[in-house]
Amino acid sequence: MTTRGFTVAIDGPAASGKGTISRAVAARFGFAHLDTGLLYRAVGAKVLEGMDPVAAARALRPGDLDGDALRTPAIAQEASKVAALPEVRAALKDFQRSFAARSGGAVLDGRDIGTVICPDAQVKLFVIADAVVRARRRFAELSEKGIETTFEEVLADVQARDARDMGRADAPLRPAVDAVTLDTSDMDIEDAVAAAVALIEAKRTAL
Ligand code: DC
Repeated sequence: MTTRGFTVAIDGPAASGKGTISRAVAARFGFAHLDTGLLYRAVGAKVLEGMDPVAAARALRPGDLDGDALRTPAIAQEASKVAALPEVRAALKDFQRSFAARSGGAVLDGRDIGTVICPDAQVKLFVIADAVVRARRRFAELSEKGIETTFEEVLADVQARDARDMGRADAPLRPAVDAVTLDTSDMDIEDAVAAAVALIEAKRTAL
């Protein structure tokens, strides 16, 4: 059994549960975790401050990835827009690939990890859930953080991002041919994490 260069790619749409699953499996196996959505959100935040998206992507530093500040609906939409620009995606590629190659194992979650960033990942998971279920989860999260919004607004945001992220020409959101799909619509988080852990265990012992 080896964990050197062991990569877990977890992709899926907004609020599918991929972030929670990624954090849990990284903690369970002692792997490093990169939420690649934060890279696009950090670029989106700089664009909202008036910066050019490609310049912002090239100047990005790990210190810019402040999860709490970046998880707002306005930044999420801008992130999805800048993510459609091939030069932005290209500028963020090396950082993600070096992260994946670190010894000790890594979990990366996003939209194109299994298809573009880490096509050789040992484990690929594609996490999905019904859009209404995802909007309900995201609405609860935002309400808990004190961000004022409505369920209808959150659902419209989720659907707009799904359409943009799946419809773009460069690295669209779609499952890799060798990804295992996990539908979390009717699952609680413990079951979803258990399914992901079982898949990783099976791959690790097979290596
Ligand atoms: O995972 P998230 O909701 O934080 O991602 C924000 C946006 O960033 C998402 O709508 C599309 C983009 N994104 C991407 O295009 N590729 C990734 N690997 C991760 C995120």
